[in-house]
Amino acid sequence: MNISMHTIMIGSLLTSPIAGFLQCDSVEPSDEPGWVADADADAEGIIALESLFDGEVPAARSFKQQELSLKQLGKFVFFDKISVPKGKQGCVSCHDPAAGFTFPDDKVNQLQVAAPGAVPGAVGSIKAPTNAYVRNLPLQEQCDPSGLPCGGAFWDGRAEGNVDPVIAGATTHAGVEVFEGSAVLEGLFAQFLGPVADQALQPFPNPVEQNISPKQVCAHVAKAPYSLLYRLAWGEKIDCTDGGFMLSFKRIAVALSAWQSSDEVNSFSSKRDKALAAEIGLEGENVAFPLEGLTAQENLGHELFYGKAGCAACHSNTPVLGAEDPNKEGLDPGELYTDAAYHNIGVPRNPSIPGPPGSPGFGARTGDPDQLGLHKTPTLRNVDKRPYKGFVKAYTHNGWFKSLESLVHFYNTADVSSAGATAAKFGVTRCDPSKPDWTEAEALAANCWPEPEETGTLAIGVQFGDLDLTLAEEAALVAYLKTLTDTKTVKPPPLLQ
Ligand code: HEC
Ligand code: HEC
Repeated sequence: MNISMHTIMIGSLLTSPIAGFLQCDSVEPSDEPGWVADADADAEGIIALESLFDGEVPAARSFKQQELSLKQLGKFVFFDKISVPKGKQGCVSCHDPAAGFTFPDDKVNQLQVAAPGAVPGAVGSIKAPTNAYVRNLPLQEQCDPSGLPCGGAFWDGRAEGNVDPVIAGATTHAGVEVFEGSAVLEGLFAQFLGPVADQALQPFPNPVEQNISPKQVCAHVAKAPYSLLYRLAWGEKIDCTDGGFMLSFKRIAVALSAWQSSDEVNSFSSKRDKALAAEIGLEGENVAFPLEGLTAQENLGHELFYGKAGCAACHSNTPVLGAEDPNKEGLDPGELYTDAAYHNIGVPRNPSIPGPPGSPGFGARTGDPDQLGLHKTPTLRNVDKRPYKGFVKAYTHNGWFKSLESLVHFYNTADVSSAGATAAKFGVTRCDPSKPDWTEAEALAANCWPEPEETGTLAIGVQFGDLDLTLAEEAALVAYLKTLTDTKTVKPPPLLQ
């Protein structure tokens, strides 16, 4: 392509929606001598960049601008349907912002739970968790004061984020090779390496997900209208040659991680966040619950969550996640509602998920039979976010639970042994094991809980299951969970709307 053609292309970009997109996200100019990679760019590239920035964004290219480009690239790739067959599936197909970044089809949530892939008939084996508020996931086992495993992305943590796997079978690592020795790039973007970047390498080539090879992903992004963002972020054109595509693919994964760590995805804009921020504004360090901005019922739910119901033992930041002290009071504005650790809460088998039974979780990775059934504690942020009232979400790794009400009732009464006084009070028993597969609806109708799918390291009877909550207290906990719904909802970038 000669220079004039290139300028024409950029010119048309500026009148296209991408220009608007860049403008919306304008950033503070910085004095830092950014864009060092410019030195290597050819004359054509420099002209292209200057045309793009002309009048639209700060003329002085800055590190901040470069980071923003990386995040924007990640956003476009997240919303773009990059798959084989073509145009069938993107990250957003299973992680819809309007559903709290979980699966957007409630017929699937009610039945098979596992998402269909791009190929007709292909289907996964586990529920899509939210991909928001996972930016602080620690590396596998970095956070291990107690001897219990923690860290990593996926329900079983196999996207470890480590250079050398801690546990055999960890997924491919996107490491410092993506910086090709550039200290500037490393200084800017190393923060986005880790479990979430490693995770992003997985869905594209997965035959039951996007089903597209890394080389084809590279070629798609190279031809996409937003490909310039790759160049703005990394300082060079995307390289899809045989020797280059793998590095480019990893850089795309780093971009996905960068966007998923952005304030746009992690907006902290829920009713709880606003009520807490307002009170901190008034009271400063003396802030305490109950909060003015929450109803009496929601405040009660909060008190139970961090108190009698014991939810915060697992659904609260541990020190490794950034809190100085385990945040038992619930006063941390950055509360992530997860310990990033693995527990077996005793979810029953979900007979509606196609394929072989069971989701052994963490234990299948370590080969330790006592660790079967351990799954990563999900964040509770946006757990009630849904596109419309009455939309059914699926909860826990296999989606057996369909409502927050029943899951909270389970936490309250799951201990159906002779020790379980709360279960006895409610008349809840063990479901008849001679019928192997109970759906949630059947179990609720029979007032029983089925056998857990896996019984190793069960937390029932140890940390919960006999909470002595009244129905009003259960309802208060649910009301509190509903205050964790972000009021902001990410919209697709203009070009892909
Ligand atoms: C076909 C549906 C589907 C698609 C497409 C998909 N995901 Fe997922 N995602 C899932 C499922 C299912 C899991 C859980 C898998 C597991 O734990 O084994 C998951 C897990 C994740 C996690 C881990 C969250 C955590 O807390 O550990 C992140 C992050 C994520 N996906 C981001 C993405 C990105 C980025 C893309 C696009 C490149 C993508 N997903 C495409 C279904 C999907
Ligand atoms: C022992 C640790 C532990 C305790 C205590 C605990 N949880 Fe959980 N919670 C988990 C784990 C682990 C999962 C995922 C389990 C799975 O999928 O198998 C989970 C899942 C959930 C989910 C489903 C989230 C989703 O996206 O699917 C909700 C809601 C929830 N817990 C709320 C609560 C509430 C409310 C309490 C207090 C009554 C509580 N939890 C107590 C560890 C815990």
